[in-house]
Amino acid sequence: MPHSLVTGGAGFIGSHLVEALLARGRSVVVLDDLSTGSLANLAAVHNHPRLRFVRDTIANEKHLDELLDEADEIYHLAAVVGVRRVLDEPERTVATNIEPVEAILRYLERYPKPLFLASTSEVYGKNPKSPLAEGDDLVFGPTTRGRWVYACSKAIDEYLALAQHQRTGLPAVIGRFFNVVGPRQVGDYGMVLPRFVDCALEGRPLLVHGDGQQVRCFAHVADVVDAILKLMANPAAYGRVFNLGSDAPITIRELADAVVRAVNPQAVVEHIAYEKVFPFGFEDIRCRIPDLTRVRQTIGYQPRHGLEDILRAVADSKPPAP
Ligand SMILES: NC(=O)c1ccc[n+]([C@@H]2O[C@H](COP(=O)([O-])OP(=O)(O)OC[C@H]3O[C@@H](n4cnc5c(N)ncnc54)[C@H](O)[C@@H]3O)[C@@H](O)[C@H]2O)c1
Repeated sequence: MPHSLVTGGAGFIGSHLVEALLARGRSVVVLDDLSTGSLANLAAVHNHPRLRFVRDTIANEKHLDELLDEADEIYHLAAVVGVRRVLDEPERTVATNIEPVEAILRYLERYPKPLFLASTSEVYGKNPKSPLAEGDDLVFGPTTRGRWVYACSKAIDEYLALAQHQRTGLPAVIGRFFNVVGPRQVGDYGMVLPRFVDCALEGRPLLVHGDGQQVRCFAHVADVVDAILKLMANPAAYGRVFNLGSDAPITIRELADAVVRAVNPQAVVEHIAYEKVFPFGFEDIRCRIPDLTRVRQTIGYQPRHGLEDILRAVADSKPPAP
């Protein structure tokens, strides 16, 4: 029976991926330190006979090697995520996001197996092009602005995996996620959609940072997980980078208004200056829309869930207010 290792499998995207792998008949081991993930994310499958949960850090290379030994394929999603954590802990971001990838690649150099590497649209940085395609430039801000450490760390991961593919033929797939959303995502680390939904449900104002004209595209996690699995099953995807997400743009102000309409029409939207929310070191991106041509051509990617669907799924997944 095929056996998958999912690092970060107790996280938001990871837990949906674990469920999908189990549903496809795989056995799965999850390696997660529960720093931002939680066992509650795996509640629907925690008694599953083909699932094993291991609580440890991916920085423990010996343990990681043992789990890599057992696996037929690896999905590497564990990382320091979220604007707030990245700004607060830059050194930990570098250590967590780069060193374990080096360790995984060291192992796969000896015993090659398919690897999915979770990267991010953040790597495009401040490139003003729209939509953004995989071959476009990565344009980072200065090192004095803390947010860029996350993008830099993920870009280095990409270089390392691509280099190994070029040198040894490692079957590695790199996915750059663009605002993946859905049930189980938490707003605690700066994610905008769950934060808005929580505010609306609790009757608190939805706080839009700045003028709210920033443009983003939100994709349902189920569509993205489906794409990950199809890419990993397709040798034409090996050694390549893919934008993954939705290409339906919306401003953050429009998103806030849509959440109010869908979740609680009594809730109000307010604007707040960036300086009041983030310490020195933050820089926002005005527009981020992916060009999805490559993933469409490779696996016929077609997201099935629109924004209305997503908002309903997120709101319905929240426990009722006390
Ligand atoms: N959600 C998005 O829109 C988005 C966008 C771009 C990239 N990503 C990437 O996707 C991946 C998953 O993100 P997510 O949104 O599900 O976030 P998440 O925080 O829910 O998942 C990350 C998981 O990794 C675990 N983890 C962190 N450090 C660890 C360590 N040292 N050892 C073991 N486990 C550790 C956390 O406990 C958590 O379960 C990350 O690599 C992230 O960078 C996500």
